[in-house]
Amino acid sequence: MFFLIAVALPTPTPPSLRAAADRAGILIGAAVRPEQLSEAAYASTLAREFNMVEPEDALKWEVVHPAALSFDFSQGDKMVDFAMTHKMKIRGHTLVWHQQNPKWLTEGKYTSGELAEILERHIKSVVGHYRGKIFAWDVVNEAFDELRPGQLRSTMWRNQPGIGLGEAGTAYVERCFRWAHEADPQALLFYNEAEAEVMNPKSDAIYAMVRDFRQRGVPIDGVGFQMHIANLHPDVASVSANIKRFTVLGVQVHITEMDVALPVDPNGNARPEDLQLQADIYREIANACLSHPGCAAIQTWGFTDKYSWIGSHSKHTQGAALPFDRDYRPKPAYAALRNALGSGRR
Ligand code: XIL
Repeated sequence: MFFLIAVALPTPTPPSLRAAADRAGILIGAAVRPEQLSEAAYASTLAREFNMVEPEDALKWEVVHPAALSFDFSQGDKMVDFAMTHKMKIRGHTLVWHQQNPKWLTEGKYTSGELAEILERHIKSVVGHYRGKIFAWDVVNEAFDELRPGQLRSTMWRNQPGIGLGEAGTAYVERCFRWAHEADPQALLFYNEAEAEVMNPKSDAIYAMVRDFRQRGVPIDGVGFQMHIANLHPDVASVSANIKRFTVLGVQVHITEMDVALPVDPNGNARPEDLQLQADIYREIANACLSHPGCAAIQTWGFTDKYSWIGSHSKHTQGAALPFDRDYRPKPAYAALRNALGSGRR
């Protein structure tokens, strides 16, 4: 005699992004603000959902190198401790950039020779401090110009006054990679860029630089595609073709700073139909990465709409760009990302 007994089974909890990514053999990361790690919901969501972190601002010059002769690793160390406790990989961001540099540096009137010494010491100190802990570095960020397609940007590091290699094309970029490699020969070294996710003159110029570096044995291991998306109909086929051509060169691609900014009302709310379009974009970009074995990481720029740079960056006309809402509830974008990761590599 059989009896059917109705038992109230708990609703099965679907696997986290992290569990799905682990199974798919890909890294899923988020940019982190270490000052929020003391917030329980922030910390628990981060540790549950991601297997990689990167400091959003904590390792930029203005934070880590606040005076000419002093470094402040306190925020970076806090994030590294958290990541190690939760067995997460750590990306470093960023050693050479034209933004978020401290006044002592930008207003210091240094000669090229002095700047070269300052930059070498910075790279070697920061990479050295995290040697063996940070597995991948964005060595140089955004060296190519927005307005002059394919041209290098004029910056204090290249030619204003530069570190002495301003007339030699990408030689100053090469020098930075060599310094970083000396400081941690095991770390993977990335060139990270904005608005070069699709095939365009900027990504063509980066491609030429990376091919040249690989041919000459310059230590470069990967290219970061920032992936800040504001257009709700991105050309994903072009992103995929671009990922492919870099991985064919033998370097990895990491998606490093993904968010999908939506128009928002004065309360910060997006339209439901836009949240669906956003979900489609997260899914399609994740699928593009998963379809190339050399695309090794997908990272979002933050993870909760509570803390996202898009609000202040767009004067609060855009927002709602991340997979979790302001109360840490998963959005359609979360489900889309998890489903893509759950289907694995293809
Ligand atoms: C942004 C941070 O998210 C903000 O907190 C900060 O005020 C400005 O910088 N490309 C990059 C990132 O490489 O470092 C930038 O991060 C966003 C654009």
